[in-house]
Amino acid sequence: MARMAEMSKCPQPSGSHIAPVPSTACAGEKWSGLYNGDSDIWCPDAYQHPAKMSPSLCFKIIEHLRELGLLQKGDVILDPMCGIGTTLLSGAIRGFKTVGIELEDKFLKLAWENVLTLEKKLGRKLEIFIIQGDARHL
Ligand SMILES: C[S@@+](CC[C@H](N)C(=O)[O-])C[C@H]1O[C@@H](n2cnc3c(N)ncnc32)[C@H](O)[C@@H]1O
Repeated sequence: MARMAEMSKCPQPSGSHIAPVPSTACAGEKWSGLYNGDSDIWCPDAYQHPAKMSPSLCFKIIEHLRELGLLQKGDVILDPMCGIGTTLLSGAIRGFKTVGIELEDKFLKLAWENVLTLEKKLGRKLEIFIIQGDARHL
């Protein structure tokens, strides 16, 4: 009962299939300072993308989903509009297989450049698959 009361302080997702959000997971301070616009997982050319996801925010979301039990070992992360692949890179670093779809040729190339640069930096292969296509046709 106390747990239910705690949870009611957080904005809750609708739909019975979605797990309730514990109050500890929505404390404001935990989600601040995550958008400094810089990253050590992108190659220099990737900064050309005009609407990049913040890697820090991405790592935080992954951590948050794991805490909630909504992302578990063996799960695959899909980003259907993956841009330069930030979600894919972050997920793969955390040990998840990731799949991305990107429409634009130039961003697809940057995503692959990011993957290859990061793999070289880490000295290991990452489980990242990127497809060029239109997510509206999934
Ligand atoms: C906001 S950006 C994604 C940024 C990405 N999370 C990152 O940090 O690299 C959205 C991307 O979706 C792509 N896009 C837009 N419409 C699309 C579609 N119908 N199918 C696939 N990709 C699409 C755009 O080219 C753009 O690169």
